[in-house]
Amino acid sequence: MKNIKLAMPSLKDARMRKNKNIPTIRYTVETQYQSIGKGKTYAIFTYGCQGNEADSEVMAGILEQIGYTKSTDKMNADVVILNTCAIRENAEQRIWGVLGQLKGKKRENPDMIIGISGCMPQEENATNKILESYDFIDIVFGTHNKQNLPKLIYEAYMTKSKVVEVISSEGDILEDAPKIRESHHKAWVNIMYGCDEFCTYCIVPYTRGRERSRSKEDIIEEVKELVSLGYSEVTLLGQNVNAYGKDLGLEYTFGDLLYDLDKTGIKRIRFTTSHPRDLDEKTMQAMHDCDSVMPHLHLPVQSGDNEILKRMNRKYTYEEYISKITRLKELVPDLALTTDIIVGFPNETAEQFQNTLKLVQEAKFEGAFTFIYSRREGTPAATMPDSVLEQEKHERLNILNKYINAGYLSGHQRFLNQIVEVLVDGPSKSGDGMMCGYTPHLKLTHFKCNDLSLIGKMVKVKITDAKTWFMIGELCE
Ligand code: 5AD
Ligand code: SF4
Repeated sequence: MKNIKLAMPSLKDARMRKNKNIPTIRYTVETQYQSIGKGKTYAIFTYGCQGNEADSEVMAGILEQIGYTKSTDKMNADVVILNTCAIRENAEQRIWGVLGQLKGKKRENPDMIIGISGCMPQEENATNKILESYDFIDIVFGTHNKQNLPKLIYEAYMTKSKVVEVISSEGDILEDAPKIRESHHKAWVNIMYGCDEFCTYCIVPYTRGRERSRSKEDIIEEVKELVSLGYSEVTLLGQNVNAYGKDLGLEYTFGDLLYDLDKTGIKRIRFTTSHPRDLDEKTMQAMHDCDSVMPHLHLPVQSGDNEILKRMNRKYTYEEYISKITRLKELVPDLALTTDIIVGFPNETAEQFQNTLKLVQEAKFEGAFTFIYSRREGTPAATMPDSVLEQEKHERLNILNKYINAGYLSGHQRFLNQIVEVLVDGPSKSGDGMMCGYTPHLKLTHFKCNDLSLIGKMVKVKITDAKTWFMIGELCE
């Protein structure tokens, strides 16, 4: 297949943040593409973070606007898009595996268009590998190019070539794009894009561009519209939501945004992800003052060792992290705190790992995403010497997970015999006459019920049993 390279990724360009003026693009679709999907189906496979889930909802909106309908048979759709994640090597391995399966499908149906988008194409190595060894992929586009999806599909159909458009830039802000939301009661709301933190292990600042905030007016408008459509919960999204507004040069910060969104009438507000250094007093006060802001905080700590934190470029210490959460727990005494932790950062010693365990006990996390460090080409940590054995890293992860799992369990046990409010998501996966949803503290709760009309409603549930991964309760009349 011939390659049409409209733009190729460059880690060097991604590292630079030249342009201070971030454009806001108002989405429109050119007339020539308006019905290219008529009579055809699409499927999107989404990997990785909530940012990707939100992006997939925009891609679905764009595809439906140009005539495509959602396929019920995802592997056999006319257009199949893999919205990928590059955060760790195992995330990428999974995606290469699915691509292998799609290769066979394309052989059966040569008219199928296969696209790959998201963070992986932003990496030079991944895009080069796709160009060299994955001939059956038709379109390759990055995190800054999703608004061009109609054009890319059209080009691929018309030229029968592989079309690549991956720009490595600061990025822009896309407004007014159509969205097909997965849920009718819970919604993702991007408040900002990109990341300027440059933690030394992380690829995200290179794949998602510069930190750029949406205007508060656009965000408030979106939440008001969601309220009018009957949504109960929003999760505000950004790689570092606490930096909201800094790039706009205004006095208005994330805390101010929480106060304003509280007035929209939305019942529940969540947000992710927070950075410990930027979590400020105003945000904590807003968590205390605003009934709609839920008593749960995901605050990635990554390590409990000051030397490792320094080498990770996290810009806070063990002591500063503890003092922030102590202050927050004064304001929100029943707070549920969760975190992210990496073990096996280059040359992490046994003693440094012990410091992480010490912090885990002191912080009393009620949940965590735990990872073994994964080397990402182009990041500063990729060049750091590392003599920790793979097996040792796995052992550390296992030990850490024991502590974390105990935290999950006690986080559930504290609600035993209490009546909690659950926003009902639907039938439980176990399929035994149970339904499930989440409490304000983000605890997954199952209860006996088969009344599907409760989906999207708030119900009261009395907790009767606490397990590691969920709580069980009885629906109150
Ligand atoms: N290796 C392991 N974990 C990573 N994370 C980010 N980059 C890496 C990496 N190279 C983790 C961090 C972050 C979460 C989203 O993913 O813990 O908070
Ligand atoms: Fe990656 Fe750090 Fe930015 Fe989070 S804050 S996305 S870990 S660079």
